[in-house]
Amino acid sequence: MGDPLRLLIVDDAAFTRDSLKKLLSFQQAIQVVGEAGDGEEAILKARELQPDVILMDINMSPVDGISATRVISTELPRIVIVMMSVQGEQEYLRQAMTAGARDYLTKPFSGDELVHTLQNAYVMEAKRWQQVGSHSLHPIDKQRKGEIITVFSAKGGVGKTTIATNLAILLSHELEKDVILVDLDLPFGDVAVLLDAEPRHTIIDLVQSGDWQGEAVQKVLHRYSEKLRILAAPYRPEEAELVIGGHIKQLLATLRTMADYIIIDTAQSFQEPVLAALDESDCIAIVTTLDIPTIKNVRLCLEVMQDVLDYPIDKTKLVVNRASGDIGIKTSVLEDNLGIGISAQIPSDGRLAISAANSGTPFVLSHPKAAISEGIRGLAHALAESPVERTSRGITGWNLLGRLLGHGDPSSEVL
Ligand SMILES: Nc1ncnc2c1ncn2[C@@H]1O[C@H](COP(=O)(O)OP(=O)(O)OP(=O)(O)O)[C@@H](O)[C@H]1O
Ligand SMILES: [Mg+2]
Repeated sequence: MGDPLRLLIVDDAAFTRDSLKKLLSFQQAIQVVGEAGDGEEAILKARELQPDVILMDINMSPVDGISATRVISTELPRIVIVMMSVQGEQEYLRQAMTAGARDYLTKPFSGDELVHTLQNAYVMEAKRWQQVGSHSLHPIDKQRKGEIITVFSAKGGVGKTTIATNLAILLSHELEKDVILVDLDLPFGDVAVLLDAEPRHTIIDLVQSGDWQGEAVQKVLHRYSEKLRILAAPYRPEEAELVIGGHIKQLLATLRTMADYIIIDTAQSFQEPVLAALDESDCIAIVTTLDIPTIKNVRLCLEVMQDVLDYPIDKTKLVVNRASGDIGIKTSVLEDNLGIGISAQIPSDGRLAISAANSGTPFVLSHPKAAISEGIRGLAHALAESPVERTSRGITGWNLLGRLLGHGDPSSEVL
C-alpha cells in the first residue's frame, strides 16, 4: 500500500471535526494532518501543511469555504478539495465546484462513503496532473507574441503594485490567460510579498548566468498558480544596479514567447531598465490619483512619452486609482487637463487593499465582487479588448538615455 493521503479538515464546528477524526482514525489510507475552523485558517494551514486533500465545509465565517476554495485552488492547484454540504445547498455547491472543488459529500455520510470519495477525487486529480506533466504546461513557442503591459506612474505610492498584482491574478485566473508578472521595481520590489510567495530565484540569477534564453528563464520563474508565474526582484536593493536596459530587452523578447500577457510592475522613476521595459511594451498603464501633485507629474510623464520618446498616443492607457466622486479633481477635468481619456477607474477601498496586502491574498481572489475588484476587472477587459498595434519606433527611451549619457546605443553592450 502507498503512503496515506494527508488530509486537512475544515469545519467551524469542533464537534464535527472531532467526529470526522474519529471516523478516520481506523483508516490507514488517510492521515489527518491538521484542522481549521474557517476559510482563512484553512488557507494558512494549506500553505503550511501542503496536504493532499482538504475536506471543506461551505458555511463558515468570517471567510466561507467557497472563498477559501477559490484562493487555495489558484495558489496551490495540486491540493484536491472536497466540499461538505447539507441537503438544499445545491447553488453553493455549484459555486464551490466553479471555484475549483473536485467533489462533494452531502451530510450525513458514512465512513466508507467518505474514504471512497476522498481517494477517488485524489486519484482522478493525480491522473490529470500526470497528463498535464507529460507535455509541459508552458511550452516555449517562438512564434508566440505575448502582450507586454507595463504599470507605471510618475509618482510613488499611487497603487502600481496593487494594480499589477491584482491585474495579473485576474487575467490568469478569471480570463484563463498564461501570465508572467515581472517585478521591475528593482531596488524595493514587493510583488512577492503581496502574493505571499517565496521565490527561490530572482532576476539576478539571470544576470549572473548571462543566459536569457527560454530554458534559463523558465527555471527562474516562480510558479504562483497553474497560469501565473512571477519573476522576482532582487533580494537586496544594492543588487538592482546589476540590471541594465539590455538585459530587460533580452528578457522581454524571451518572455513574449512564453505567455499571453507579461505584466510589469515598476518603480516610479525613468531608470534605464524601466525605460527599456516602456520601449518594449505594447501598452503602458499610467496610474494616477486625483490630486494635483500626482496629476502634474503624470502630465509631464505623458509629455515625455509623446514628445520625446515618440510613443504613439494609444500606447498609453490612463488608470485612475482611488477614484472617488466626492473628493479630488473631477474625472472630466482630469481628461481635459491631460488630453487623454480614462481607460479604467479603480475605487478607493483602504480596508480591503491593506488587509489583502497583509494576508498575502489579492482582493480579486478573496473579494471578487467588491467594487475595487470590479475596477481591476474593468482594466483587464479594457486591455484585453483593445490590443495595441505594435509600431516600429525610431528613437526609444532607452537609447535616448544612452545618448544623453554619452554611451551611444547601449544595446551594443549586451546584445
Ligand atoms: N484603490 C485603492 N484603495 C485604497 N488603497 C489603495 C488602493 N490602491 C492601493 N492602495 C494602497 O496604497 C498603498 C500604496 O499602494 P502600492 O504599494 O500598490 O503603490 P505603488 O505605486 O506600488 O508604491 P511604490 O511607488 O512605493 O512602489 C498601499 O497601502 C495600498 O494598499
Ligand atoms: Mg510598488
